[in-house]
Amino acid sequence: MPNIPARLRKRPRHLVARIACVLLLTTYGAPAGAQALSATPPMGWNPWNAFRTEVDEAKIVANAQLLVRSGLAEAGYRFVNIDDGWWLRREADGRIRIRTGIFPSAALPDGTTSFRPFVDRLHGMGLKAGIYTDIGRNNCAQHWDRDSPNLPAGEQREREVGTLGYQDADARLFFGEWGFDYAKVDACGIADYGPDSVGVRDGTYRSLSPLIARKAPARSEPAIVEALYARYARAIRTAAPGTLLEICAWGEAEVGNWAGRYAQLWRTSSDIRSNWGSMLANFDSAARRTLFAGPGRWNHPDMLEVGNGDFDVTHPVEARAHLSLWAIIAAPLILSLDLTRASPELIAILGNREVIAIDQDPAGHQGVILSHTAEADILVKPLARLGHKAVALVNRSTRPITLGVDLADLRLSPRGTTIVRDLWSKDVAALRGTRIERRLAPHETALLCIEGQAADPDTVFPDEMPAAIAVIDAGQAMPDRGRNWIPARLGFRPAGEPILRNGRPDTGTLGVASGSRVRITLAKRFRRVEIAPAGSSGTPYTIVADGRVVLRAKADGRSAIRLNTAGVDKLELQAPAGSTADAGFLWSDLRMIRR
Ligand code: GLA
Repeated sequence: MPNIPARLRKRPRHLVARIACVLLLTTYGAPAGAQALSATPPMGWNPWNAFRTEVDEAKIVANAQLLVRSGLAEAGYRFVNIDDGWWLRREADGRIRIRTGIFPSAALPDGTTSFRPFVDRLHGMGLKAGIYTDIGRNNCAQHWDRDSPNLPAGEQREREVGTLGYQDADARLFFGEWGFDYAKVDACGIADYGPDSVGVRDGTYRSLSPLIARKAPARSEPAIVEALYARYARAIRTAAPGTLLEICAWGEAEVGNWAGRYAQLWRTSSDIRSNWGSMLANFDSAARRTLFAGPGRWNHPDMLEVGNGDFDVTHPVEARAHLSLWAIIAAPLILSLDLTRASPELIAILGNREVIAIDQDPAGHQGVILSHTAEADILVKPLARLGHKAVALVNRSTRPITLGVDLADLRLSPRGTTIVRDLWSKDVAALRGTRIERRLAPHETALLCIEGQAADPDTVFPDEMPAAIAVIDAGQAMPDRGRNWIPARLGFRPAGEPILRNGRPDTGTLGVASGSRVRITLAKRFRRVEIAPAGSSGTPYTIVADGRVVLRAKADGRSAIRLNTAGVDKLELQAPAGSTADAGFLWSDLRMIRR
């Protein structure tokens, strides 16, 4: 049984069991890294999916009020973020003028404009406020919503409301003067304004040679894109250090490999749409990138479509599945429905505290893929409490299927009691046997919280501490690598081929790119690390402990090595350089041993 505070001990057992998943949030201390800005994934609301540029202050305030009144704010959804459509123009002195036609509170008596009253109002409601800008000169709507009545107005230069060339001044204005807490920084300005684009050809906008070629990685310029975002991040840190930064570059320009250095969250894919296929594609884009997330750095598969299209109130199974998938991978939970039209049933889905607690678990681990097919996924997310794991059994298909995992797959002991809590049906039961199985309706996801005992409390496998593993160098570029190439994964090679053990991806093994560097934060908690480096390359790999090379050798078969890591904080695994056609390198059978 988990430790239960005295004030709860008198309550009936089933009730205690029922609230245990949430209890963890308050009972158990957060691990190292929790001091980071955005220690858990950000939660909030954004108008884009519901209103596009047809947004106004009244709609935003009505939704903000509902966040508070419905209890969703209390459940954690606190950011209220403005998206595209708010600008009127950039004035001669460089300051941006707000479109007061849709944001009336921004019109000040002296004729200038300011978001301060709006931000103060949100803050006064106990909420936080986010604003939207673009890393280039122009924004997304100017290219993609050309008929919108809410596009920036004026001469060509006045319509350049993006932040390029104005980073410091804009950051001071948005986060210093206006007091916003969150920046979503889009990238259309460096993607869509090439000499051949419509708006440039007709003279509406200045040309900017694209640094991002959508879905054509070989024609993008990741280093320059990174430098631009680094520049803006610096401006924000100087203006208001506590501001969250979301990089919205849709998984392009290798953003997921470098964004964690500057931002708290970054988009891993193109825009979500309110249909099942789009939701799954966006989920996959983030789910594969487990080793890039952790406290203060989150993969963002985009805002939630719960409440819209295939996920509206007539599709509760899909709505629950969507939220479950975001929760199991510790994705930011940014709602984007019109709450003024949401039914109590939808609000209840979004407000499911136990599901939110999985997303917000203080250990900050992104769930690990235990198996993946076109029809089904199984993911496991280690929780802060030893022996507690969230499991998602995901039916991606349109027919009913049965999915299951063995306790051994979860590295849990078959001895002792294992409690299985279904976070949607609210069913709580002690497990009989050693296998957890569910019959799933089409599109159904079962989100379970398993309270068991670690099979071996002294040995920790990489899938039990993914947030402690970080990719610090993406390594060698493969000539034909696409957006799906991921420099380090658990149980898969970078190009996506599974590394199998007993027919399942071997999540105790890291498949990495040649020349990559992966850092494991041991935090001086492990006396020994065991690992079997494996790869065909003739060049040596290197292992570094707190800056000191402790081993340099060629991989020979899969023979395991033992490293004495007593007192070591950071262990760095440097894969050997390879040929341009190789399948990368394996850090096999990795385990961290406490004593
Ligand atoms: C891009 C972003 C969206 C939204 C729109 C606004 O497409 O990815 O999330 O912000 O721009 O125009």
